[in-house]
Amino acid sequence: MKKNKPLLVEISKYLGREYRGFHTPGHQQGCGMAGSFRDLLGKNVLAMDLTEVPGLDNLKNPQGCLKESQDLAAQVFGACQTFYLVNGSTIGLQAALLAANKTGQKILLPRHAHLSVVNGLALSGGVPVLAPISIDPEWGIPLGTKAEEMISLLGENPDIGAVLITQPAYHGIGVDSFSLIKGIQEYSVTVIADEAHGAHLYFQTKVPLSAQQAKADLVIQSAHKTLGALTQSSMLHVNSDKWRRPVRRALDILQTTSPSYLLLASLDSVQDDMAKNGGRALDKTWELAGILKKKIRDIPGYRLFGDELAKPWIQDPARLAISAAELGLTGWELADILRREYSLGVELSDYYYILILVTLGHNRQDISRLSGALLDISKYEKRAPLRPLNFTLELYRDEPKFALTPRQVLENGSEEVPLDQALGRIAFEPLTVYPPGTPFIWPGQVLEKKHLTYLEWAVKQHFAVHGISKKGSLNLVHEN
Ligand SMILES: Cc1ncc(COP(=O)(O)O)c(C=O)c1O
Repeated sequence: MKKNKPLLVEISKYLGREYRGFHTPGHQQGCGMAGSFRDLLGKNVLAMDLTEVPGLDNLKNPQGCLKESQDLAAQVFGACQTFYLVNGSTIGLQAALLAANKTGQKILLPRHAHLSVVNGLALSGGVPVLAPISIDPEWGIPLGTKAEEMISLLGENPDIGAVLITQPAYHGIGVDSFSLIKGIQEYSVTVIADEAHGAHLYFQTKVPLSAQQAKADLVIQSAHKTLGALTQSSMLHVNSDKWRRPVRRALDILQTTSPSYLLLASLDSVQDDMAKNGGRALDKTWELAGILKKKIRDIPGYRLFGDELAKPWIQDPARLAISAAELGLTGWELADILRREYSLGVELSDYYYILILVTLGHNRQDISRLSGALLDISKYEKRAPLRPLNFTLELYRDEPKFALTPRQVLENGSEEVPLDQALGRIAFEPLTVYPPGTPFIWPGQVLEKKHLTYLEWAVKQHFAVHGISKKGSLNLVHEN
């Protein structure tokens, strides 16, 4: 038992004693916590909320059970070294950038890179080179950057030192990880893989989406998103020896000195569970997703996104974008009906679709419940079919004009500027229109006429726009 779950074993020892600590956390295993909240959480959760006391090791300098647990995780995921993260993949991506991207050094990344990456560049001081992304024009779903587009940008910019790939992105879509990563590594640049949505993909061989299988240099996974870990619990896998020390140092700078043992214990449990059941559990999950897809295809009025996906795009079979456009329902309306009338929640809703995840935690009853609800809705919701939106896709493919790096943007500070005075000014923060929910402006980018026209159009359509205030002003770089 000790060999497989070293951290849980040590925590259990504390649970078995009449332990009383004189250290943080202040609630002392729940005793100093409001009774109603304590009852809600349950006794063991609180008793397990321990800290770096004797026997429980130290996350910054692991020598005991935490080291053993991280070593086991590295074996399970086939990595040289694995670091546990207690502030999500956000901190892992930022540590990877701090380790592998120096001030003034160019880094290639797709335009749909996550906000934590945009912010990470302000820490590293790197210079972004943005790769264009494709977006499905009807559904408004970001697909990603084709491998040949990434590789050709590498050829055009010989001073790029690192590439960050988002594989798969939020909707579970990406390209073949093996050819992408091999193609990049031929240029001898470091590959950082944001695999926040793909930790489970290591445990299968049907879909070539896993960046950890394809051995990107640094791979960051949200074990809480697709595996059984608690929220915020993530892993950073190092796949080449030279990154062990720089990553350790970067995490030393960024991670808390008070890691939650509940989160760490959940990572210990995940590595053990995946070692024993990973392949089988994922097969079962994908089988359930297949059953759900079949049921949905049989209900008139719904469409599934993956059914129309052309090469080179690949989708995680357990992520389903479902459109009820033929029933006249927006994704927002469908999500609302599912939540209000059937107590069913979705991962994301957008104008044209809902996105749902089938996970290791689902069973056949869950699948029947969701498909039953969709069938029910299809019987009484018959409105005029929804028109697809005409997305302005060129803005996600254009070469952006950068005046400042994300670090310089941060140092300059910001001011509010009305939209009609924003032409030629520099963005302080990303500007994102939902749908498609991917920044079309990055910090440091110069605002051109086409961007402002797009913004005005999006506001008129009542789309959610992140980065514009209620009064219609933008947060732009302060001008001296
Ligand atoms: C593509 C992508 N990368 C990174 C992250 C950050 O992950 P975390 O929430 O674990 O910090 C997210 C979060 O949703 C994401 O969608």
